[in-house]
Amino acid sequence: MAASPPAIEVVADPAVLRAAVLAARADGRRVGFVPTMGALHAGHLALVARAAAECDLVAASIFVNPTQFGPGEDFERYPRPVVADLEALAGAGVRWVFAPPVAAIYPPGHATRIVVDGPAVGFEGAVRPGHFSGVATVVCRLLLAVPADAAYFGAKDWQQTLVVKRMVCDLGLPVEVVVCPTVREPDGLALSSRNAYLSAADRRRAVALQESLALAAEMWLTEAPLAVIEAAMRDRLEAGGVAVDYAAIVAADSLESVTAGSAAVALVAGRLGSTRLIDNRLLPPRGEAGR
Ligand code: PAF
Repeated sequence: MAASPPAIEVVADPAVLRAAVLAARADGRRVGFVPTMGALHAGHLALVARAAAECDLVAASIFVNPTQFGPGEDFERYPRPVVADLEALAGAGVRWVFAPPVAAIYPPGHATRIVVDGPAVGFEGAVRPGHFSGVATVVCRLLLAVPADAAYFGAKDWQQTLVVKRMVCDLGLPVEVVVCPTVREPDGLALSSRNAYLSAADRRRAVALQESLALAAEMWLTEAPLAVIEAAMRDRLEAGGVAVDYAAIVAADSLESVTAGSAAVALVAGRLGSTRLIDNRLLPPRGEAGR
């Protein structure tokens, strides 16, 4: 009879998990890591499935990171369905769940933060000052606790993936960053733990984000000027009742101005009631007509 795989292990101590991951890698096993803040949905589980397909062992983390929330944001009310999350990760074949207490990530007196410029500056970085410093700091700390071969992130947080890649490159962290496609509801709404905050009426309106991005993709192919497309994206969001933070098309790899021949990304963000949603869509490079 084949031996059953080892049960999921919940680890709170970074040193213990680091030793286990390094031992597995020394044994020739490829380890994948899926960092999360919990409140898991099918998007997270798609990251786990991709990691499981590409690696021998998968670690995931559940840590609601206080330093990436600004004052007045949803840190306190962020959903924490720990039992359901652990069941979902066990069912997905995860070997280790890193669930540290805050003091294991931010020891008393902690005074070190990572600040990323470049892709972290605009958009979410402008609307949520300090957010990406919190993300970069915690991802670096998580990667020290889980020294995996590869770490898996969702494309829904496109700007976050650029910030993490920049940080990993700049600090020479020995990990491959894998970006996985956004998972969507049947009406196109990108899965997000924050969708749970939406009232029934706002949930219906939330399709405006996806519609705004679909409109951008359609107009992009007509070579319409960027300013015209961006105005149309904003109009579509506002018509759907979204209080728009931004609606823009920028270079996909830098979030700077689009140049002829560069792949682009359409980014949207806004609020429905007290819920803030973001989404994006990659656009193919277009020719000299550019702007
Ligand atoms: O995308 C998230 O869930 C978080 O920003 C991350 C990467 C787990 C860091 O807290």
